[in-house]
Amino acid sequence: MASHNGHQRAGPLLLLTIVTLLGTAADAVVFQTIMMNVTVLRPDLNMTAAAACECKAKCFVLPKCSAASYDITTSVCSMTYDAPCNVTTTFAPGVISLFKFVIREAFVTKGKTFNGSPDNLKKMCGAEGGVPLIINTKQLLREARQLVADHGIWLMWGANRVAWLSAYQTPKYGLYHWPDNSPVIGSIFTANDFFPALLADKMEVSVLRDDGKIGTLSEQPLFISALPVLCARTQ
Ligand SMILES: *[C@@H]1O[C@H](CO)[C@@H](O)[C@H](O)[C@H]1NC(C)=O
Ligand SMILES: *[C@@H]1O[C@H](CO)[C@@H](O)[C@H](O)[C@H]1NC(C)=O
Ligand SMILES: *[C@@H]1O[C@H](CO)[C@@H](O)[C@H](O)[C@H]1NC(C)=O
Repeated sequence: MASHNGHQRAGPLLLLTIVTLLGTAADAVVFQTIMMNVTVLRPDLNMTAAAACECKAKCFVLPKCSAASYDITTSVCSMTYDAPCNVTTTFAPGVISLFKFVIREAFVTKGKTFNGSPDNLKKMCGAEGGVPLIINTKQLLREARQLVADHGIWLMWGANRVAWLSAYQTPKYGLYHWPDNSPVIGSIFTANDFFPALLADKMEVSVLRDDGKIGTLSEQPLFISALPVLCARTQ
């Protein structure tokens, strides 16, 4: 009986905590992707909302709402009922879009190559509708690691699967840079995330390992298998 009373006393506080936790978890799971400066095309419902948060809440409680866009200047909240595969977006400055599904921006090429030079990676991605992937968010790193784990190649000198990555060492500066010239170290990668993938005198190009580390190697290494390339989809 004493334990029953104790249970009852703990009840309300415990319930409140669980509801709070569930609310946070559900919210995080329901909206998988947030994009700035992007709006959904052909919305099924337009309404006004005081803030992006209210727009999000309206989509949250509407099961058929798959994505919502909030225009900060007009306070219009647009929702689409399209299935994830059919949702299309377009560039729209000042609009924030929330999606109840993951937008897969990263992909790995079906084609494989021995040549890891920036020009060749650009060509390989372009042939399959993309550009070389720049990894500057945790979400993209998660996606890229999964892609490498699923489609990467085992190399003799490593225990991990790898795919070509666009991080490139310009000999002039000695540091690895992305194709847009932003430094690789600083956003999500640190110096500790680099390892020499192959003994060579010149380390210029890179691969991503399935453990999220960047392997450095020479541009056209000997005894290497042809590798697929990490790219990002362009719309
Ligand atoms: C919602 O607004 C957009 C942009 O003004 C418009 O193109 C669309 O037809 C509207 N949709 C509905 C269902 O009102
Ligand atoms: C996507 O759109 C096409 C064309 O409107 C439609 O036939 C198809 O059923 C839609 N897919 C889903 C999963 O709703
Ligand atoms: C959104 O667009 C504005 C104006 O074009 C720009 O200043 C801003 O950096 C963009 N934000 C993002 C996250 O792309």
